[in-house]
Amino acid sequence: MAQHVNFIEVGPRDGFQNVKDYIPADIKVKLIDDLLAAGVRRMEMTSFVSPKAIPQMRDAAEVVCRTLETHGDEGVELYALVPNTYGAKAAAAAGLREVATVISVSESHNKANINRTVEESLQGLEKMRQALPDLNINLSMATAFTCPFEGITPVENVLKIIRRAAGLGITRFCLADTIGEADPKMVRDTLTIVQQVFPDITLDVHIHDTRNMGIACTLAALEAGVCNVQAALGGLGGCPFAPGASGNVASEDLIFMLNKMGFTTGIDFDKMLAAAKYERSVITGNFSGHQVHIGEPCH
Ligand code: COA
Ligand code: ZN
Repeated sequence: MAQHVNFIEVGPRDGFQNVKDYIPADIKVKLIDDLLAAGVRRMEMTSFVSPKAIPQMRDAAEVVCRTLETHGDEGVELYALVPNTYGAKAAAAAGLREVATVISVSESHNKANINRTVEESLQGLEKMRQALPDLNINLSMATAFTCPFEGITPVENVLKIIRRAAGLGITRFCLADTIGEADPKMVRDTLTIVQQVFPDITLDVHIHDTRNMGIACTLAALEAGVCNVQAALGGLGGCPFAPGASGNVASEDLIFMLNKMGFTTGIDFDKMLAAAKYERSVITGNFSGHQVHIGEPCH
C-alpha cells in the first residue's frame, strides 16, 4: 500500500456547488486560504459552469484571481472543473493552467449534468484539447461506479472512455462515485482493472459518503495502489443533477484517519479542523464531518 497520500481538496467546488444560499467570494477565498495554510497542495477550487446550472459558481473568476494573487507562486496545484471549452477558456483567462473537465460514464447522468451524449462530450474534449493546447486538461469521470438512473456502471464503459481520452493525450483521470453507492470491493476491483489496462495514467478517486462507506472506499482505493484521493471540507458536496447523492468524504475525518495510520499527508489536522469549524459557522449546508477535538465536550 502507498505510504504517501496525495490529498486533493474539492470542497470549494463540489462542496460549495450544492449549497443553496450564495457564499460570498470573501468567505470562499478565506476557506481556500485556510486549506492551503493547513498544508493542502492540490485543490479543485471552483467550476466554470453555466450560472443557470449552478448559480453558486458565478464568482469563479474572482475566486481564482484573488487566490492566485496570494498563492500563485507557492507551487500549489490549483485547478477548476469545466464542462466545456467555454468554461476551459474562462478558467485559462482567469489564470489557471489546469482544468478538470467532466464526462459521466453513464449516458443518462451525462445528459442530466451537461446536456450532452457521452459521444458529444468526447468530441467536445477533442475540440477543447485543440483549442487550448497549453492548458493541462484532466478528465473527471462521473458515475464511474454507479449511476442514479442506470444502476451499476459496467467497467468496460469506464475503460472505453479512458481509451478515447488517452488517445487525445489526456493522462490524468478521476473516477468519481457521484452518488456514494460504490462499496469498497467495487472500488478495489474497478481500480485494479483500470490500472492493469492503463498502467501509465495518473488516477484519482472521488468518493461520496451517502451510505457511510466513503472512508472505507477511500481506504480500498489506497489498498489498490491509488494514492490520489479527493475529499471535501466538512463533508459538504453532491451533484445537484444526481438525485439522492450526499456529500463527499469529509476532508478532516479522512486526514485524521490517514495521519493516525501513519500515512504522510503533509496536512495539519488541527488547522484543517479549525477550517471546518469556521466553514460550519458561516455556511448553511449538509455537513457530515465530525467537528470535535478528542477530549472536547460534544454538545
Ligand atoms: N460557463 C458559463 N456559461 C456557460 C458555460 C460555461 N462553462 N457554457 C455555456 N454557458 C452559457 C452559454 O453562453 C449560454 O448562455 P446564454 O443562455 O446567455 O446564451 C448558456 O450557458 C447555455 O449554453 P448551452 O451551450 O446551450 O448549454 P446548455 O444549456 O446545454 O448547458 C452546460 C450545458 C454544460 C453549460 C450546463 O449544463 C452546465 O454548466 N453544467 C454544469 C453542471 C455542473 O457543474 N454539475 C456539477 C459538477 S459535475
Ligand atoms: Zn462529487
